[in-house]
Amino acid sequence: MKTILITGAGGFLGGVLAQKLTSAGHVVGTGRQHADRRVDLRDPEALRRLLAETTPDVVIHTAAYRDPDFCEEHPEETRRLNVEPVRLLASGLPPSAFFVLISTDYVFDGAAPPYRENSPRHPLGLYGRSKMEAEDLALARPGALVVRIPLLIGVEPAHRGPSGFILQMARQILDGQPADVDDVLVRFPTWTEDVAEAVAFLLEKRAVGVFHMSGARGATRYAWTVETARLLGRATDHLKPLKIPFPRPARRPLNAELATGKLRQLGFDRFTDFAEVARRILSALGIFQQ
Ligand SMILES: NC(=O)c1ccc[n+]([C@@H]2O[C@H](COP(=O)([O-])OP(=O)(O)OC[C@H]3O[C@@H](n4cnc5c(N)ncnc54)[C@H](OP(=O)(O)O)[C@@H]3O)[C@@H](O)[C@H]2O)c1
Repeated sequence: MKTILITGAGGFLGGVLAQKLTSAGHVVGTGRQHADRRVDLRDPEALRRLLAETTPDVVIHTAAYRDPDFCEEHPEETRRLNVEPVRLLASGLPPSAFFVLISTDYVFDGAAPPYRENSPRHPLGLYGRSKMEAEDLALARPGALVVRIPLLIGVEPAHRGPSGFILQMARQILDGQPADVDDVLVRFPTWTEDVAEAVAFLLEKRAVGVFHMSGARGATRYAWTVETARLLGRATDHLKPLKIPFPRPARRPLNAELATGKLRQLGFDRFTDFAEVARRILSALGIFQQ
């Protein structure tokens, strides 16, 4: 039986991946605090030890700092987690092991969507730059796989408590407090379950190189909020569309739509619509009743 090592297995995506892949092999989930096997990936010795002890056939590397503002304000720390462990994994794994890196739409500047796998990358901030560097390190390894994804939606791990894009919107809809909501940046919310399914599919197909996985519909946060409010049968009069980007430490791409033709051509067709995912998440949280 294959050993599949998943970093960030207590995280938003890693947790779903760890569950999904139990039928594909023996899953070893690692995290800093929330996983069976606790390893600080910033410690090269600890990472080497982990690889020597687990001898994985497949490594799926999800662990990273993913908050663009945190990355912008902590460049050194960002490199320590988002880049250096990838260098060690890509060069330290035996040639027979298969390396998968989860990357992001933030490697693109968002000025000329949609982006294909071979479109030129031009990150606007340190988060995207760190992931671009990680991609290059991963792809220097023959036969590696890089899966780029946009904004994730789903049920966050239990230890974090209720959180995430859909719940944040629902709270803003339900609390009735006046607020400005971004109506500039186009986002493509993508279900963690679909991403995990796509990664399992690509593993099964022994796909290598870069693949994009993304929800099919793009809209601004304001438009997603209005759609969520409709599902909840609530008004959004207290929410105003903000037509200029919120001032934040990191610049965000305006529209970094990831074209998914390459993945579809290989036969993958699970792209669950936002409305369906929102219904499920709001039901799971006890907010939406049919
Ligand atoms: N979330 C999104 O919307 C999104 C969008 C595009 C791309 N991505 C990419 O998808 C991947 C997964 O994102 P996610 O949302 O699942 O992230 P997440 O929920 O923040 O999880 C990150 C994981 O990394 C682990 N980690 C943090 N510091 C660590 C350290 N020093 N040593 C070992 N593990 C450490 C955490 O472990 P503990 O929980 O144990 O502390 C956590 O499990 C990332 O590579 C991200 O760039 C995410």
